Amino acid sequence: MSPDDEVCLCFHVTLRKIRTYLARENPPVASLISECLGAGTGCQWCVPFLKHLHAEHQKGREPDLRVSPEEYARTRLTYHKTNERDADVVQKATGE
Ligand code: FES
Repeated sequence: MSPDDEVCLCFHVTLRKIRTYLARENPPVASLISECLGAGTGCQWCVPFLKHLHAEHQKGREPDLRVSPEEYARTRLTYHKTNERDADVVQKATGE
């Protein structure tokens, strides 16, 4: 993802905003990323991705998601219909 791509589509929270929040606040748990403009508190789609970004930050790496914003947004819509995340996209984006 590019820094200006949105990680939390519900609240339009970009990767850059999350990186800045992580660097500035160094939250001990991923759930505190919700303090960054409400990220993760809507449909919940982005929660595993926020956890990944937090884990990357904790490891001293630059937080990133290895997925295009188009695929990320498209699979979110499927998640809204099925209430299940595409495991392949989660794995691809997070490498986990
Ligand atoms: S995309 Fe983040 S809560 Fe919906």
